[in-house]
Amino acid sequence: MCTAGMGKPAQCIAVMGHAIATGLVLIGTGSSVKLDKELDLAVKTMVEISRTQPLTRREQLHVSAVETFANGNFPKACELWEQILQDHPTDMLALKFSHDAYFYLGYQEQMRDSVARIYPFWTPDIPLSSYVKGIYSFGLMETNFYDQAEKLAKEALSINPTDAWSVHTVAHIHEMKAEIKDGLEFMQHSETLWKDSDMLACHNYWHWALYLIEKGEYEAALTIYDTHILPSLQASGAMLDMVDSCSMLYRLQMEGVSVGQRWQDVLPVARKHSRDHILLFNDAHFLMASLGAHDRQTTQELLTTLRDASESPGENCQHLLARDVGLPLCQALVEAEDGNPDRVLELLLPIRYRIVQLGGSNAQRDVFNQLLIHAALNCTSSVHKNVARSLLMERDALKPNSPLTERLIRKAATVHLMQ
Ligand SMILES: *[C@@H]1O[C@H](CO)[C@@H](O)[C@H](O)[C@H]1NC(C)=O
Ligand SMILES: [Fe+2]
Repeated sequence: MCTAGMGKPAQCIAVMGHAIATGLVLIGTGSSVKLDKELDLAVKTMVEISRTQPLTRREQLHVSAVETFANGNFPKACELWEQILQDHPTDMLALKFSHDAYFYLGYQEQMRDSVARIYPFWTPDIPLSSYVKGIYSFGLMETNFYDQAEKLAKEALSINPTDAWSVHTVAHIHEMKAEIKDGLEFMQHSETLWKDSDMLACHNYWHWALYLIEKGEYEAALTIYDTHILPSLQASGAMLDMVDSCSMLYRLQMEGVSVGQRWQDVLPVARKHSRDHILLFNDAHFLMASLGAHDRQTTQELLTTLRDASESPGENCQHLLARDVGLPLCQALVEAEDGNPDRVLELLLPIRYRIVQLGGSNAQRDVFNQLLIHAALNCTSSVHKNVARSLLMERDALKPNSPLTERLIRKAATVHLMQ
């Protein structure tokens, strides 16, 4: 039998090595077995080795979970990781993989509760216990428990100041509460501690630039984009960097800023991934790039292959969600580009409370809220007369003192929508 600890037969370690390595690529980078032959082979090898070896239940579950995730059934993969966590609450791999999968699914409460269930087992003597505080803190923040989230993230940072994940949670808290001055100060003071983090540095710079957009300091936001965000994307080609880049340019454009030729820089990444359809959230951002760069062929290719994926049989949760949420959202982006704001509303209003199912954070998905508001401001049809006003009132209630919201309210007043 493969048992944990010393004297483990080499093959058993090999299988866990495969599960870890393959899981990290799949879950961490947004690669797909459908497109990446090497990764496909890695999953198959992992499964094959696991069949020839007497594995523990825990190892078997790890292998199945990674295989299930590779097939696009994220909810089922999460169930398997949760089974591991029930018996092994300090299994960091199961914890982190399920956390990421919940994030991709937009399962915000699960992202929080999954960590809450095992948190007491992570006593300070266990390596990475401070990292677990950061993970827990993120789930609390996304479900609006800002005070608890901040307390935990600060605890984590006092133990390990270079924990880019906890820095990231604090950045989110300031973002959600429109605490722009505090957010900017926090990023400035902590920059040297996280700027070399492989995975999150670019994304933390993105958060920094969000505060600047809030303030209306567009040039400064563009400077961060040009010196940190785009170079990171060009070096890594990573999906998170791509999402950050597109989201930043799209937000600036909605604010009326000319981004020049910048869409051309991100277009090659969109072209390369326009047929992946691994995450609908990413697809929407690739589409921003192809629309921004006026590349009709890539736009068409992305939409056609997404439609095909949505009609393909199977258990892939993203493909199943494409018809109801992913495609209408993508179509709305196209209609906005084509100058049809009323169509944007017809497409987005019925699904606005389902967009969370595309995953990503509240801050990331705000780009779609902003799109809806801008479209509503542009609407001419009498049916949509009061939509912008309603959306802005609700936005202001949820996040008071946001200069961005205040600008939009002023804009609404000039088009006589806010009487
Ligand atoms: C709203 O109108 C402006 C000005 O015509 C345009 O630049 C912008 O793209 C439109 N936005 C949406 C979402 O319809
Ligand atoms: Fe974030």
